[in-house]
Amino acid sequence: PGKRRKVVVGNWKMHTTSAEARQLAKGVANGLGNEDDVSVILCPPFPYLALVREILKGSRIALGAQNMYPEKEGAFTGEVSPMMLLDLGCKYVILGHSERRHKLGESDMFINQKVRFALASGLGVILCVGETLEQRKANQTEALLDRQLSLGLADVPADALPRISIAYEPVWAIGNAAHHATPQQAEDAHAILRGRFANLFGEEAAEAVAIQYGGSVDPENAAAFLRRNGVDGALIGGASMKADQFLAIIRAAK
Ligand code: G3P
Repeated sequence: PGKRRKVVVGNWKMHTTSAEARQLAKGVANGLGNEDDVSVILCPPFPYLALVREILKGSRIALGAQNMYPEKEGAFTGEVSPMMLLDLGCKYVILGHSERRHKLGESDMFINQKVRFALASGLGVILCVGETLEQRKANQTEALLDRQLSLGLADVPADALPRISIAYEPVWAIGNAAHHATPQQAEDAHAILRGRFANLFGEEAAEAVAIQYGGSVDPENAAAFLRRNGVDGALIGGASMKADQFLAIIRAAK
């Protein structure tokens, strides 16, 4: 305990106007206290990266993107390259989010291409994994996590490992306060993931990798998740849309 730095990430998804994005980023930047031991990352939609970057200047909050395309440049209409993200000051990119897997049909293979290209480009990667309710009910959680992790991280070079973190997001617990995962379920899944990471990259790398929990984390339940063994932070959707709620979760991570 204490070895891994806690990380709290706000995934704004496809929300906010430019005015709201500005206000939200300001609220978080101005309200941040002395939680120096917690890494904070904001991931606004692409169109607002530049304006959020301006607001975060001089703060210790890092900028991240929610997706990217695994090419440097070219005829890929509508896509955004990691070079563009770096140019806009992004340090991180979220990849493999369940909404992209399930609503946009992204495969493990495609996600792996993105992971490798993002790392080779110099970005940090937050790789999301997580089972659906059907998979959990059919006792397939472990096999699914195993598959998403090993396929997602296939052929990742060892020197890039410090720039990878994992987010465990059970699909059935996202944006759905009626279906909360318990802190115990999170702890168990994180242990599975860390074990698998150790098989892939060795014990030392597995001890160092941050595994965040995501799925309806809010100011009330954040501490219960964050004090669990192996829960190194949180990836926040809904509660990252309100600066005071997001700040309360950061304080809970301290
Ligand atoms: O990436 C964050 C996420 O999917 C969780 O969303 O709204 O359940 O906090 P939410």
